[in-house]
Amino acid sequence: MAKHAAVIGSGVMGHGIAQEYALAGYTVSLYDLKEEFLSKAKNSIENSLSLLVSEQVITELAKQDALERIVLTTDLRAAVAEADVITEAIPEVIEMKWELFEKLEHLAKEDAIIASNTSTFSVARLIERAKTPHRFIITHFFNPAQLVPLVEIVRHESTSDEVVSTVMDLMVQIGKSPVLLKKDVPGFVANRLQAALMREAFHLLKEGVADAREIDTVMKDGIGFRWAFVGPIETADFGGLDTWKRVIENLAPVLDASQSAPALIEELVAKGELGTKTGSGIYSYADTSVEEKWKERDEQFIRLGKMKRG
Ligand SMILES: NC(=O)c1ccc[n+]([C@@H]2O[C@H](COP(=O)([O-])OP(=O)(O)OC[C@H]3O[C@@H](n4cnc5c(N)ncnc54)[C@H](O)[C@@H]3O)[C@@H](O)[C@H]2O)c1
Repeated sequence: MAKHAAVIGSGVMGHGIAQEYALAGYTVSLYDLKEEFLSKAKNSIENSLSLLVSEQVITELAKQDALERIVLTTDLRAAVAEADVITEAIPEVIEMKWELFEKLEHLAKEDAIIASNTSTFSVARLIERAKTPHRFIITHFFNPAQLVPLVEIVRHESTSDEVVSTVMDLMVQIGKSPVLLKKDVPGFVANRLQAALMREAFHLLKEGVADAREIDTVMKDGIGFRWAFVGPIETADFGGLDTWKRVIENLAPVLDASQSAPALIEELVAKGELGTKTGSGIYSYADTSVEEKWKERDEQFIRLGKMKRG
């Protein structure tokens, strides 16, 4: 079983993925283009591990051990030389990913697995230029990668069965909940479900049916409250399929079917108001610390995770 992991790209997703491998006992090479990106990532990992210690999920010793197992580097060759599994978490630009994969195929061990954290590309697209397609697979982590259990696994017909089963075992070993998709479709399962719900949420906001805070409350105290434990298909069974037949028949014709991003999102993006990362988005974060907001969110996710693990 693999013992050395490399993570390429140490941003929002890469640092969390590196943390998960390190906590599970892997030596992790975390690669990025500049030292300053790596020190920011190291800082985020330290903060996240400290939060796990204060929430009594891990010990101080486990935190120190995990930190010692993470090697930061701006040397790609050194990062991947020993790696059994390499996770790519660089920006969602196909040419950048192809360029990186070409280097990885050349520099990595012959039997190293190359996993992409892409959120939109199919495996077929990712491997268009690959010389060793049998070792490519998607492991789609969720943000924050170190706290959300789900990892969607997507294979191509040329991905070897051995790579698929090794990656499935690996995900369980690092404490994740992997779901292997049966087809290579854009957006996989989770982002398709999320996008359907977001489209309707922004439609209701635009139509003035409820304001942003009210829509979020409906989700957090209603649908989301149930969904952490009962999925949508189970919900149909629990509610009665005769009832759900009528609900869908009556509502499907009036649901939003827009083919583009909501106008409000378009306007805010054009103004550079991107949400917490710029201090304002749909909500304003002017009189609150964004770091505190993130910390609060992570504390709640850690507690939910503990509850779900029983
Ligand atoms: N942010 C999310 O919520 C999220 C969730 C799931 C999947 N993803 C996917 O994960 C991937 C990474 O997203 P992110 O949000 O972490 O991006 P990010 O911009 O936060 O981080 C990307 C990192 O890659 C580095 N980088 C850029 N070019 C590189 C190269 N050629 N080689 C090595 N490093 C390079 C950048 O310096 C940066 O640190 C994308 O494919 C994205 O679609 C993102």
